[in-house]
Amino acid sequence: MSQLLDKCQQTMDFAAVQLERLITTYPDYFPMYTVNGKWKHEGEAWTNWCEGFLGGQLWLLYEHTQDAEWREKAEHYSRLVEHRKTDRNVHDLGFLFWSTWKRWYDLTGDPAINEVVVEAGQTLALRFKEKGQYLRSFVADESLFIDIMMNVGIIFYAAQQTGDENLWRVANQHCLTTRRVLVRGDGSTSHEGIFDVNTGEFLRQSTHQGWRDDSSWARGLAWALYGFGTAYAFTHDVRYLETAVACANFYIEHTPEHGVPRNDWDEPDPALPYESSAAAIAASGLWNLSKLVGSPALAYSYKAYAQRIVDTLTGPEFLANETPGWEGILKHGMYHQRKDLGVDESVMWGEYFFLEAVSKVLNDA
Ligand code: GLY
Repeated sequence: MSQLLDKCQQTMDFAAVQLERLITTYPDYFPMYTVNGKWKHEGEAWTNWCEGFLGGQLWLLYEHTQDAEWREKAEHYSRLVEHRKTDRNVHDLGFLFWSTWKRWYDLTGDPAINEVVVEAGQTLALRFKEKGQYLRSFVADESLFIDIMMNVGIIFYAAQQTGDENLWRVANQHCLTTRRVLVRGDGSTSHEGIFDVNTGEFLRQSTHQGWRDDSSWARGLAWALYGFGTAYAFTHDVRYLETAVACANFYIEHTPEHGVPRNDWDEPDPALPYESSAAAIAASGLWNLSKLVGSPALAYSYKAYAQRIVDTLTGPEFLANETPGWEGILKHGMYHQRKDLGVDESVMWGEYFFLEAVSKVLNDA
């Protein structure tokens, strides 16, 4: 265990070096994925959902070091995304504000900061489709994404803070719909659900970043594992806990011993063996789940598995500290294989959830 803690400490030190270089080399730039290990390029974004992850990493570094300079930078990069609290073009306001303004609020208790988080949650709720009972993805009215499970928490939060029962209904119904149409009986998940917008009838499962419509995209399942755990933490609705557990068990049963899946469990003979960002998300989500499940044996196994993933990701295959010129922290992530975006690269959400998982291991010591 002390060896793992040493690796986690070294990872935070390395992250500090990489992030300092990133914000000094490219001030006020919000990277998404690297190209050949470099953050700045003209590659397509597909959608703008990652701008909170830089500020989020800076908050994690501040929490770890208590160094006022990191806090100043974290506040700066959080302020740069404040205007997104009214952004109705994306379904990602949880990603944007939970990693930044919510962390800031938790440290300060300042009501003005909380208002920003609440407003982001209220904005996200405007995506709710009464016909179909889901928050629509950025792609189209007919589309529900599994990724939104990571964002719906900010609506539960806004509902709690304001006492607005409609916000609670929207968040709850979205989770129930996602559970019904995107989570399969074996705990695997589909990336996308397509609805008839006129009737609200669910039509079929689909995918953008996975192998096939009926396959299991690893990051989508990691989002579900983490997101249904969060939904349970807010609601205490045991159906959400059972769903998170089913996803966790699928992940563990289908992933090699080292804990890092490939991009899609169903892809035959994939060219690349790893999707490290899915592993980082799963590690952090499993850590949460270990605190939520009632069974001590299950709690122990989820925590041990999360530690195993962190042990792997802080090792030489994944940590970029021995790759000269590489600007990211965690290698072997994957953004969008079909579009050839961020394939076998560092990705901003991978960095954030990796540091979040590493911080959880360190803070538990
Ligand atoms: N758009 C969220 C993801 O790529 O996981």
